[in-house]
Amino acid sequence: MLEQVDHLLKEIEGFSCNTLEEVEAFRIQTIGKKGSVTLLMGEFKNVPNEQKKEFGQKINHLKNTVQDKINLLKESLEESEVATQTKIDFSRPAEFTSLGSRHPLSVVRKEILDIFGRIGFSVSEGPEIEDDWHNFSALNFPPEHPARDMQDTFFIDNEIALRTHTSSVQVRVMENSKPPIRTVSPGRVFRNEAISARAHCIFHQVEGLYIDKDVSFADLKQTLMYFAKEMFGEKTEIRLRPSYFPFTEPSAEVDVSCLICSGKGCNVCKHTGFLEIMGCGMVDPNVLDNCGIDSKVYSGFAFGMGIERITMLKYQVNDLRHFFENDLRFLNQFKSAY
Ligand code: DAH
Repeated sequence: MLEQVDHLLKEIEGFSCNTLEEVEAFRIQTIGKKGSVTLLMGEFKNVPNEQKKEFGQKINHLKNTVQDKINLLKESLEESEVATQTKIDFSRPAEFTSLGSRHPLSVVRKEILDIFGRIGFSVSEGPEIEDDWHNFSALNFPPEHPARDMQDTFFIDNEIALRTHTSSVQVRVMENSKPPIRTVSPGRVFRNEAISARAHCIFHQVEGLYIDKDVSFADLKQTLMYFAKEMFGEKTEIRLRPSYFPFTEPSAEVDVSCLICSGKGCNVCKHTGFLEIMGCGMVDPNVLDNCGIDSKVYSGFAFGMGIERITMLKYQVNDLRHFFENDLRFLNQFKSAY
């Protein structure tokens, strides 16, 4: 009887198979109701008393060995089955990958540059970290001008600051090229402002500059009218209100007829019929001379607009902060913009 146990143990230890069905068959053959191990266990009562202890231990060991063997075989066969199932099936249709979209500010920046590109304006860029000369002094800012104040400007040291407007780029362009100049300068600007629905410490501008002989205010008006109609629609009207900027004389603020009520008056335009979109003016002769352009020979106009402002008006976005939060629920709405 004891030899039979040993014999069976050897057989079981040597057993191997390749499928889960074979494992199940093995289980039935060994520890099933009529299995070899079960039958042997049934023989316990016939074992002479002095061998009962040894037989019991052996048969228990046998039973555990069978159970371990079954578990082990099952586990490894199941694993390899999963592995074969997860093999790449090249015949399956590809998974849909969702396309990203351009940021609304990029969409509008491109649109602005394209509009001016069509009438011969090139694109120029300058550094975001700027010196006092290019951001202020060359642009005719008096030394005590409030824009230089710590409250508005992020200073790095006495001389260097984060640019507060892209007008600094017009100085660089004038210093480095000869008229005729026709250029638009897009870029990020920085101001030390509390963040709210209407203000942010980082925003984007596009500056425009046109310098040649005999450039007049009428040229400026025509250019702005063309821009407004291209950007907001053929029926758009513009209105220029006298204003002040240190670097232009005369200066004006540009309004477009309200995009919502077409000038009739509504909440968006605060019942004025118009919305402000930018500043502009004839480049001050001092600025031309500061930048090495003879103001007796040349004249020019400049304008500057905020990309956020234009985007908010065009798409009726009511909170500036949306542009910086990268919330997909907001950004996804511009998927078809272009
Ligand atoms: N730099 C001005 C600003 O940041 C915008 C501006 C106004 C630019 C009038 C111009 C201009 O070129 O002529 O508020």
